Amino acid sequence: MVNQPGDSRPQVIEVRADRAAGAYVSATVEGPGAGSEVRTRLTPLAADRTGIDVAFHVPESDPARLAVIGGRYRAIYERLWDEDEAMMVERERALAARRANRATTPETVLLGSPDAVRGALPRLVEVGGERFRIVEVDGELVVHAATCPHWLGPLDNAKVVDGCVRCPWHDYAFDVRTGESRDGRGLRLATPPRLVTVEGQLALVPA
Ligand code: FES
Repeated sequence: MVNQPGDSRPQVIEVRADRAAGAYVSATVEGPGAGSEVRTRLTPLAADRTGIDVAFHVPESDPARLAVIGGRYRAIYERLWDEDEAMMVERERALAARRANRATTPETVLLGSPDAVRGALPRLVEVGGERFRIVEVDGELVVHAATCPHWLGPLDNAKVVDGCVRCPWHDYAFDVRTGESRDGRGLRLATPPRLVTVEGQLALVPA
C-alpha cells in the first residue's frame, strides 16, 4: 500500500469482508508492502454517523521505520476518508433534494435573452429538485444533468471535452448531448428539460 519512491512493482491486494461485523481487511499479498494489512471496522453511531476504526499492521520491527511507515499510512487514509466523507455529504444533499421535490411538478424556468445566457456559461439551473447545466458545445447550447447517475456525483464543474463529461468521483464518462454512457457503463444521464424560446427569451420546460 505504501510504495517506496521509485518502486513500481505491481501489488496484489486481497480484500476480506465480514459484513455482519462491519469489518474488512485489505491485505497486501504480493509486491511492495507484502505482508501488511489494513484492518477497518465500521460502527453505526446514528442514522447519519459512522465510527471508523482503522489499524495498520506492518511486518517491520524497527521502531524508527515503523513510525515513518505509520505516518505515511495515516496521511493517506486521512485523505481518503475525508474524500469519502465529502462524497457522502454531497450524495445526501442530492438525495434530500430529490425527496423534497418528488411531489412537486417541475415548472418552466425563464433564463433570459440568448445573448445573456451565452454570456454566462456554463450555468447551473435547478429544475424540480434536480441540477442541470447549460453549456455550449460546438456553438450549440446543450442542457445536461449535473448529477451523475452512478452515486450522484456532482458534474457541476466537469470539463466538457469532445462533447463528453467525466464524473470526478469514479471517472464515468457521459455524452452531454445524448446522456449516453461513453465508456460502456450501462448508465445514462437523467433527461434534461427542453431549452425553448418564449417571446425572445430562453426558457427550460419539463421534458
Ligand atoms: S458517482 Fe461514480 S462515476 Fe459518478
